[in-house]
Amino acid sequence: MNFELNEELAMVRDMARDFATAELDPRAQRHDEQGHIDEEVFGLISELGLWGLTIPEEYGGAGMGNLALSLVLEELNRADASVGVTLSVHNSLLGAPIMKFATDEQKQRWLPQLASGEAIGCYCLTEPNAGSDAAALQTRAVRDGDDWILSGTKIWVTNGGLASLGIVYARTDPDASNANGISAFLVPLDAEGISLGAPEKKTGIRASSTVEIQFDDVRVQGDALLGEENRGFQIAMDTLDGGRIGIASQAVGIGRACLEASVKYAGEREQFNQPIGRFQAIQWKIADMATRLDAARLLTWRAATLRDEGARCSLQAAQAKLSASTACNYAADECLQIHGGAGYTDDFQVERLFRDARITEIYEGASDIQRIVIARSLMS
Ligand code: CAA
Repeated sequence: MNFELNEELAMVRDMARDFATAELDPRAQRHDEQGHIDEEVFGLISELGLWGLTIPEEYGGAGMGNLALSLVLEELNRADASVGVTLSVHNSLLGAPIMKFATDEQKQRWLPQLASGEAIGCYCLTEPNAGSDAAALQTRAVRDGDDWILSGTKIWVTNGGLASLGIVYARTDPDASNANGISAFLVPLDAEGISLGAPEKKTGIRASSTVEIQFDDVRVQGDALLGEENRGFQIAMDTLDGGRIGIASQAVGIGRACLEASVKYAGEREQFNQPIGRFQAIQWKIADMATRLDAARLLTWRAATLRDEGARCSLQAAQAKLSASTACNYAADECLQIHGGAGYTDDFQVERLFRDARITEIYEGASDIQRIVIARSLMS
């Protein structure tokens, strides 16, 4: 077992770190306030080849794996979690299932656009009555000749307002049991009958796009079907195994920002005639933050490595996400406590980190769902 990153991975991580420091740190607070990411950032991500980081070279991507993606996501999220989740969803929730389940024709059509950033992707699973119980979804897809007609409502669609391609999960066999009558479709989001709701006003990751998408008799061609008919739920779940590694990486990144801010402030802020970092109470908080985040990072790297080897990693991805999101929220809470009243204002970035951290325990499967996945894996 080797915990050292090879030269290529270290190079990608360093490149992402430099980009985050130079381009995201100065913008993150403004992104949060204005509620969207500067247009220029999308172009910079294209120049670095990050939209296509995990897409094979033959389709214009960098051909790297989940471990590389995790390293990049930790760096970007350390600076700006809104940018981080945008890239995570694009790579792990849209690029990945196309690479794994699409026909050659579908790959030729979509992967080059996704790799260049010309098309941004989103993942349309959740519905008003199907959140944690994703298999209860009600969006319908009905055959009409060679075409399919889609109708239904998807909510909490990350990237929904930016994306030109969505993977949409819809019920194709209403008589089958919940999980076995669902199919996956690749839907161009400029199709007639698609309408977007207003951007959600969120507690954190405010610059990322989150919208409702309504499908009213949307006609797509037969070749929009991804993978086998009625096996879409299995695609959704397999895809989320990868997505959860992305969110675990995001949580480690936000947590690291909290740790770094805490160390800095504890060295600067003086009370009782000395820097507060000299007090054991502060030192213990910092030690616990660092230890929990390191453990979470190792779990995340393990899950990413397993996925890169082609092994099923549902258990390990769930453990990584549970551990990382818990460590992240612990770090955010203690970071704010260390900053005291100053941390409760927007004079410091701490209050943004505190708000951004919270979502990591909710999306791509709440912590309660991760515990279900973990327990089922151990007990089945
Ligand atoms: N890989 C492949 N197949 C899988 C799988 C996986 N990881 N997990 C389950 N399956 C398969 C099962 O084998 C089964 O298939 P068969 O019938 O062929 O055996 C089928 O899927 C049904 O499995 P379950 O019986 O376990 O399904 P369930 O209804 O009990 O649900 C659940 C399980 C874990 C609770 C699931 O519903 C779940 O993960 N819920 C959370 C939903 C979620 O994470 N939503 C995130 C939305 S996207 C988002 O948040 C993105 C964003 O904004 C950033």
